[in-house]
Amino acid sequence: MFKEMGRRSQAVLVILCLLKTVKAFEMEVIPAERIVAQIGDTLVLTCNATGCASPSFSWRTQMDNPLGGKVSHHRTYSTLTMNPVSSVNSHEYLCTVICDEKKKKEKSVKVELYSFPSDPIIEISPSLVAGKPATVICKIPDVYPSSHLEVVLMKDKHILHETNFYADDSTNTETKIVTYSFHPTVEDIGKVISCVARLPIANMDFEPKERTSSQKLNANFGPQNTIITASPDNSPMEGGSLNLTCVTQSNPPPKIVWRKYLAEESIQHLIKNDVLSIPHVRFNDSGRYICEVINVVTNKTEKATVDIIIQGAPVITKLSIEPSTTVQEGENVSIQCSAESNPPPKIILRRKSDNSGIRPYSARSILLPSVTFRNGGDYECVAENKFGNSKSEITLNVKYGPKNTVITVIPTAAVKEGETVTMKCTSSGNPAPVISWKKKLVTGESVKISENATLTIQDLKSEDLGLYECEAYNQYGKEEKAVKLYVQARLEKADQVIPFIIAFSSVAAVAVPAAAILIYVSRQAKINGSYSLVKALRLKV
Ligand SMILES: *[C@@H]1O[C@H](CO)[C@@H](O)[C@H](O)[C@H]1NC(C)=O
Ligand SMILES: *[C@@H]1O[C@H](CO)[C@@H](O)[C@H](O)[C@H]1NC(C)=O
Ligand SMILES: *[C@@H]1O[C@H](CO)[C@@H](O)[C@H](O)[C@H]1NC(C)=O
Ligand SMILES: *[C@@H]1O[C@H](CO)[C@@H](O)[C@H](O)[C@H]1NC(C)=O
Ligand SMILES: *[C@@H]1O[C@H](CO)[C@@H](O)[C@H](O)[C@H]1NC(C)=O
Ligand SMILES: *[C@@H]1O[C@H](CO)[C@@H](O)[C@H](O)[C@H]1NC(C)=O
Repeated sequence: MFKEMGRRSQAVLVILCLLKTVKAFEMEVIPAERIVAQIGDTLVLTCNATGCASPSFSWRTQMDNPLGGKVSHHRTYSTLTMNPVSSVNSHEYLCTVICDEKKKKEKSVKVELYSFPSDPIIEISPSLVAGKPATVICKIPDVYPSSHLEVVLMKDKHILHETNFYADDSTNTETKIVTYSFHPTVEDIGKVISCVARLPIANMDFEPKERTSSQKLNANFGPQNTIITASPDNSPMEGGSLNLTCVTQSNPPPKIVWRKYLAEESIQHLIKNDVLSIPHVRFNDSGRYICEVINVVTNKTEKATVDIIIQGAPVITKLSIEPSTTVQEGENVSIQCSAESNPPPKIILRRKSDNSGIRPYSARSILLPSVTFRNGGDYECVAENKFGNSKSEITLNVKYGPKNTVITVIPTAAVKEGETVTMKCTSSGNPAPVISWKKKLVTGESVKISENATLTIQDLKSEDLGLYECEAYNQYGKEEKAVKLYVQARLEKADQVIPFIIAFSSVAAVAVPAAAILIYVSRQAKINGSYSLVKALRLKV
């Protein structure tokens, strides 16, 4: 059994030896021939031998400079690790393999270096002020070989400055700086400053070969070109909304204050940054508006103004009676109406009960010197323009003492004893007078007999004869009227008792102004009712 196995092993060995002799001794360096490495990265060179049982490896540079890396030998290969790759590694590296101390092979690889690790850094001298010089600094960090570096500074698409470092002979990475000064204008605000750095080495294979950084230009400047825009326009309709926008060029944004010219006072409308918003404009919002802007760059106030005229149908702003809506007769009264609108309104002020065709007061005010009760009533003011009209009313209440006190006797003709007579007393006055009846006794004394305006005497007798007085009273005065019941005739017939014929006569009208009333104009008290004997007799016969 063992014998058998031994023989087989021998056969395998023979085959292996045959294979070994077939595969020749070879070596390679990975990566082959040429490598482009970035300074700072890690680079591993591998030297690999095949067809040799125990190869020995050695590394060296062309000029026998230090290797600048760590060598690590393994059974069939060796590595040279450069971590990090630095400027000392720019060499042609040669790997030598000796197999069985006889056969020697070697290969070289060229390590080429570059460094372009990050985008440029742009710095613009802080707090730029328009019109004053500004400096743009572009830094390109850790470049190698800088003799290939090209830098372009741009403002939007426009080239500001171009430079290169072809004359550079630095042997290590360097941070290159490009500086450029210019005068930014207001128009430059918001434009983009770009720094484009290129390392165009045609025969070196690396990416990227171009790096760009950009920064927006943000120059500071004081407010300028300030204007106010009005939406919808400078003549908005009353009741609508109005937005005034203060448009200015300023960086940093300015502080904005709104004022209205009237009284130089700032106005209290809703202020939203640069917009003055009036949701419902009134006529009194017409006027000159001022927008004042200021920023810390100049500390100088810039102003813009706009004139606003509110248009619309009239609005009655005042309808009043002087000295008061309630007056006494004789006072001097004035009624005034005013309205606002643009275009200006036509105002008509008149007494409502007057027929509009007849004598309309077409003025803004009515003067009523020494007012009478006839002037009392509702007054109307109408203001009108092409956009429409508005109306308002006010009541003039003229107080006056009782007047036109009248006694009406029913029936109107003489009556006979036993019949009924009704005496009605009416009077005008404001407030309405209180009416009462008195009867004058034989003693001369007057006795109040009724608080009612209507006095009815039924079943007329001789005791009812006499003087009846009606008194109309209010706080502004009193007026009295009297009617006398007397026997006008005594008719007799043989067979019967003939009653009295009783007649009436109005007597003595008395107007008594209250002490407080200085002016009492009534001279119009009328005596009413005069009944002739002849007429009465005729009726009765
Ligand atoms: C060496 O070369 C052989 C044959 O080409 C391959 O199989 C092996 O992986 C290589 N070794 C290294 C470390 O590259
Ligand atoms: C004014 O601004 C307000 C709020 O922004 C808006 O609702 C309104 O429509 C604006 N009015 C005009 C006339 O532009
Ligand atoms: C403007 O007029 C309105 C009514 O139309 C009134 O309420 C407001 O007080 C007036 N404002 C001023 C400042 O007179
Ligand atoms: C404007 O005023 C502010 C604060 O009062 C001050 O800090 C700033 O220097 C002033 N600027 C100029 C240009 O005067
Ligand atoms: C009314 O006006 C007249 C003339 O203007 C004046 O003489 C008179 O005293 C005035 N009366 C009253 C009650 O003010
Ligand atoms: C006055 O008399 C009439 C008729 O007699 C009566 O209807 C009325 O109520 C009376 N008024 C008063 C205030 O007594």
